[in-house]
Amino acid sequence: MERGETAPVSIYGYCKKLLLIFFYPNQSQYCDICFRRTSINTEQEIREIVGEKIRGYRMNKSIVYIIKQRFSCRTYLKKPIEEDHQRALIEFLESNHTGPLGTRARFALIAATEYDRKSLKGLGTYGFIKDAAGFIVGALEQEPKNLEDYGYLLEHAVLYATDIGLGTCWLGGSFTKSSFAKKITVTSTEIVPAVVAVGYSASNADIRSQIRKRAGAQHRFPKEQLFFDRFFGNSLNKENIREYADVLEMVRWAPSASNKQPWRIIRSDGAWHFYLQRTQGYGKGTLTFNLLRLADLQRIDMGIAMCHFELAAHEFNLPGRWLVDEPGIIKPENVEYIASWTTVPSERLINEA
Ligand SMILES: Cc1cc2nc3c(=O)[nH]c(=O)nc-3n(C[C@H](O)[C@H](O)[C@H](O)COP(=O)(O)O)c2cc1C
Repeated sequence: MERGETAPVSIYGYCKKLLLIFFYPNQSQYCDICFRRTSINTEQEIREIVGEKIRGYRMNKSIVYIIKQRFSCRTYLKKPIEEDHQRALIEFLESNHTGPLGTRARFALIAATEYDRKSLKGLGTYGFIKDAAGFIVGALEQEPKNLEDYGYLLEHAVLYATDIGLGTCWLGGSFTKSSFAKKITVTSTEIVPAVVAVGYSASNADIRSQIRKRAGAQHRFPKEQLFFDRFFGNSLNKENIREYADVLEMVRWAPSASNKQPWRIIRSDGAWHFYLQRTQGYGKGTLTFNLLRLADLQRIDMGIAMCHFELAAHEFNLPGRWLVDEPGIIKPENVEYIASWTTVPSERLINEA
């Protein structure tokens, strides 16, 4: 087999590949979704400020700029990750291990060297990813808010990788879970819910933009369907969003499993309440997810949204804290409360500095 190529060896693996291609037709490798966002602000509009120190880590560029640069990169240059970049990423992973809701995770970067791709041997992506130079793998215990924390922590790493010039792609379905679990030597009580492919993107910006448009990854729900004032369905207007308009826009462009964007946010009493609106016929409990033994990816999506919200709020000097304290807002049937970002000091803060 060629370097970096992977193939499922078992009948289970083969069936899983067929199922994945059937259920994720837009995301197979030939539909590379590398792009540069064109529908939102132009580069001139993006503030090129030096990133603030967030959660003990400093980004080089503005978080707004980084979020607009990120995309799911599925084809990489056949080039190992430079040593400086590997070192920076490992340092980042080692110092960002505890999520805002209290779960501790451990992460590892599994990367090929220039002469040897053996370290990536057996790490399969069912053909969805071409020539990744490495993977970020994480493991964590089964705890109530573990997947939200996992999404938050790994997305922070994705944005950091983007900041230093690396392409990334989240993989929640199309990765051979057991081989990745082996690489990070999971214990009997730990899980590996998703991984992230990393490397230098192979496609240039123009091609990326075109392919992405065709693949539908450009699509995001309008803000009126995602963000509400006091109750579900009541859209926020300009006056009551004020300085949070840009923060919410950064949430809108977060990545999510199959681009389902399950986050809904309600502003009420000085807080922003995060809810998970499960996509009908998709995710936890469905036949596909059970057959493919996938994690509850929509909870990971929620952590990703929380990460974008917090990093953007920090950049715009809008202080706040996470807490879990469900407000008495009436929710539609398929909606679950996750956490709140409160701008008001509270006794029940979870992530006191
Ligand atoms: C939790 C999670 C799991 C994902 N799993 C996969 C996957 O298994 N295969 C894949 O090709 N893309 C996967 N993606 C990438 C999404 O399809 C992508 O984020 C979405 O289509 C939006 O496109 P963008 O990331 O380019 O903005 C995943 C994303 C997330 C957040």
